[in-house]
Amino acid sequence: MMIKFKNQLKGRRLILKRTKPNLKIAEVMFKVIDENRNHLEPWFPWPKLTLKVEDSLKYLFDKEEETKKGKKVEYGLFVNNEYIGNISIFNIDEKNKSAEIGYWLSSSHTRNGFMTEAVKMLEKEAFEKWGLNRIQIKCDEKNKASFGVAKKCGYKYEGKLREDSFSEHFNGFRNTLIFSKLKSEYQKLQKTR
Ligand SMILES: CC(C)(COP(=O)(O)OP(=O)(O)OC[C@H]1O[C@@H](n2cnc3c(N)ncnc32)[C@H](O)[C@@H]1OP(=O)(O)O)[C@@H](O)C(=O)NCCC(=O)NCCS
Repeated sequence: MMIKFKNQLKGRRLILKRTKPNLKIAEVMFKVIDENRNHLEPWFPWPKLTLKVEDSLKYLFDKEEETKKGKKVEYGLFVNNEYIGNISIFNIDEKNKSAEIGYWLSSSHTRNGFMTEAVKMLEKEAFEKWGLNRIQIKCDEKNKASFGVAKKCGYKYEGKLREDSFSEHFNGFRNTLIFSKLKSEYQKLQKTR
């Protein structure tokens, strides 16, 4: 049975809204990406390929195909009605009950615990409503902010993929760290909260 993704999730400070493909959200997303190139380019290949609003709109339409198949859902993070970044859960595998979370935030809103809050909102939905058993977070070994979020959310370090990706930004091969949380660990953490 295919997962039914909610259009909106409400948190303590954040509202997560599905990034459905339309010009309005494409414009808002593109503006934040354009203002954050230096912040995003070390860690993602796509900001360099996102040069105009139409590129963001195309991304939204392409991504929606994955959503229709139940493989991925993306939410925009909104604080006081302002769009500040994205979180998505992808590679949703209904047989093995596993998926991966990825995220980025406008630099002006970092170090406020927003991504920690967003990960907790999304994993709650995934473990409790969709019945997933395992969520992983992967990041560049040098990306302190990204693995900081994974650790703060209680994800366990599993290991390192040695030189598994090539970064044009750093002009070299990069190591990737893998963190994960199991449903049993999520449930245990809920009890101690
Ligand atoms: C990664 C990112 C989303 C973090 O978002 P955030 O909302 O600032 O993260 P949080 O405030 O929830 O931080 C959680 C923990 O991570 C660690 N952390 C966050 N930013 C850090 C930084 N710049 N340096 C070192 N540790 C950091 C801290 O331990 C922090 O907890 P603390 O504030 O209580 O000390 C944001 O920095 C970002 O968008 N980076 C660029 C894009 C990116 O790298 N995405 C991930 C690709 S895998």
